Amino acid sequence: MSDEDGTKGNKGDFVFPINSAKPKRKRAGSEKSADGGAKIIIALLAGAGAAFLLALIMLMSRLEAEEMSNGLLNTNVGGSKGVDDQILSEEVAQGHASFGLMSKDRLKERRNKLVSQMKMMKKGYDKKLDKFTRLAGLKPGNPLEKGVREGEALLEGMVNALNGEGKMPGHVDLKKDFRDAMHVDHEKMKRRDEKTATTPDIGGNDKGPHLYPRFPPMPPHTMAVDLFGEEIITNTLSFDKPTIAGVIAILQRFLHKLHEMLVENRDAPTAEEVIVKYFALVNEYLAPLDAAYRDRPMFPIREDGSVFMSLGAYRDHLLGETLRQAYKTAANPDKLFVGAVVQNCFGIDVQCRSGVEVKGQDKQGRPITEISDRPPDVNGIEEFCADPDYTKYCDSGQIRVLYVNETESNGPTTARYFASKLWGGETYFMQSDAHLRFAQNWDRLYHEEVMAAKSYPKVILTSYPPGFSDGDPPYKGGSKGTRLCTCEFSKSDVEHRIIRINTGNNCKGEEEAPTQIAFIAAGFFFSRAEFLTDVPFDPYLPWCFMGEEIALSLRAWTHGWGIYAPRKNLIAHQYRPGRMGLPKFWENTGRVFGRPGPGFNTELQMVTLQRIKHMVGYKDSDTESLEKLGYNLVLTDFDYYGPGDVRTVQEFLDHNKIDMKAEKCGWIDYCNDCTLP
Ligand SMILES: *[C@@H]1O[C@H](CO)[C@@H](O)[C@H](O)[C@H]1NC(C)=O
Repeated sequence: MSDEDGTKGNKGDFVFPINSAKPKRKRAGSEKSADGGAKIIIALLAGAGAAFLLALIMLMSRLEAEEMSNGLLNTNVGGSKGVDDQILSEEVAQGHASFGLMSKDRLKERRNKLVSQMKMMKKGYDKKLDKFTRLAGLKPGNPLEKGVREGEALLEGMVNALNGEGKMPGHVDLKKDFRDAMHVDHEKMKRRDEKTATTPDIGGNDKGPHLYPRFPPMPPHTMAVDLFGEEIITNTLSFDKPTIAGVIAILQRFLHKLHEMLVENRDAPTAEEVIVKYFALVNEYLAPLDAAYRDRPMFPIREDGSVFMSLGAYRDHLLGETLRQAYKTAANPDKLFVGAVVQNCFGIDVQCRSGVEVKGQDKQGRPITEISDRPPDVNGIEEFCADPDYTKYCDSGQIRVLYVNETESNGPTTARYFASKLWGGETYFMQSDAHLRFAQNWDRLYHEEVMAAKSYPKVILTSYPPGFSDGDPPYKGGSKGTRLCTCEFSKSDVEHRIIRINTGNNCKGEEEAPTQIAFIAAGFFFSRAEFLTDVPFDPYLPWCFMGEEIALSLRAWTHGWGIYAPRKNLIAHQYRPGRMGLPKFWENTGRVFGRPGPGFNTELQMVTLQRIKHMVGYKDSDTESLEKLGYNLVLTDFDYYGPGDVRTVQEFLDHNKIDMKAEKCGWIDYCNDCTLP
């Protein structure tokens, strides 16, 4: 056994089984693991308590180890410290910091937050054990399992003690042990990297193995497999060595197949036929990615306050400026990461077209509209990366981009699914539109605001931001946060009575903490990254526009997340009335299928919208009705992408005064009165 297998020497000399730098080495060969496993287990048995747990961490693959340590540090050490820091910062913000002497209420809050962090961690243990046991080819009942159980018992003991039962298990300084061990490992890795590195490290403060090889954000249309080979796909799908480059390769392969499918089905007679083929492509090329990371984050979550911004941009001329503003105003630009899905008309093989522009009025005062030829869209990423003030963020791997031909774009739900896959372990997941302005320090302030909410860590901050216009001075922020507190059943013919979300009352502005609201805005929300594991984005909603927000709200809340309005607005959004004549994705759908106008998109949407209507409980979308229509397909993998099991759908509807029988939205007191912390 060579020392890369992590088996050399005594307990104090553990190293990770690093394999990333040696592509030749075969993974998880059973003889190798059994042998390596046995040696480590002997070493493990020599240890006890903290050392035992630490050894356990060391035993796992580097990625696993980080994941595990994140959790352990969180719950065992960083957790209480983190919670204390958080409470202190809240108190400071409110001007009554007690520095150590906590009020009864504060103590209770501290306890609740700790308990919920620990519970989150405990849930992950079994899954990790399962996976590791499988990878290493160990039998059930192995000493590893014991180690994990010990760890669980430790957490259990801590939870109980916090709840006033039994005494707190002795202090275990895993953090220090872990750091010491990491240090040894870091030195080794550094030497190894110097020997084998092919990608120079240009900057950025994160060096997670999944960030290499780096897929460059420019130029567009570079295929990741051409740069790095097919194995980045297999490495990612087998959760052997997932990388963001691998994820991009998988998404690009899907888009390529979609391109072929659309060309072949230009004259498809019905919307249903197109949907059947689309779902088949999702099943074949996207579902395996989602399946590999079901119920676990794709990458270890870093506890460094980093922010991932998911941007789905459709032919957006403000994308470049939005990125500049975001970095310019961020308190921590080095910890700001972007996953942009750029759906543009690139003018390859197609003549780009404008949206529906109003050119004047006819005699009756009706608008005269026109659609005209256009040059290819500006690429906001190119603008941003070419700006000398910001090039470094493109070089450092902080800007991750998936380019999508306009012809393959099919609406915001799919774009946001893609963008969510560009997340790389950042602490926070933020989803937003690509035409925004930001107030100074927005990233730090949102981070603090999330932590101030009572349901932390399962908190989603969200709002419809206030508007800005082109000539406005730099955005300052600070107005009272808008609250999504009302809804209505759409009366528009093309929206099939789907529930639309809207704003309600503002708060007084003196609240001590953020208060809960009813709904999530798809155009802006900010949450911890665990959200992606709990409420994974749904790839089975192509051509959908309305309906996205009710689905998101219902899923998040039933999965146990609390939806909150930030007390103050920190971003502004350019609202774009129809008369601006900006292109719309449904016009493209019409062109792709040779049926100009929005009509064919409406037909497609009618089918996929059934998935959302079924979830919310529309009477004409129950299982029986869908069967009759022959639409069973729209329920593909519904259990996974549907409601959660922490709260029921009926509870969601009751809580938010939605009457599905009468199809009426009522007045939501808690939301409009700002009474629910
Ligand atoms: C984008 O469109 C071009 C031109 O039609 C095509 O060659 C290319 O394959 C498309 N991209 C993908 C990812 O399919």
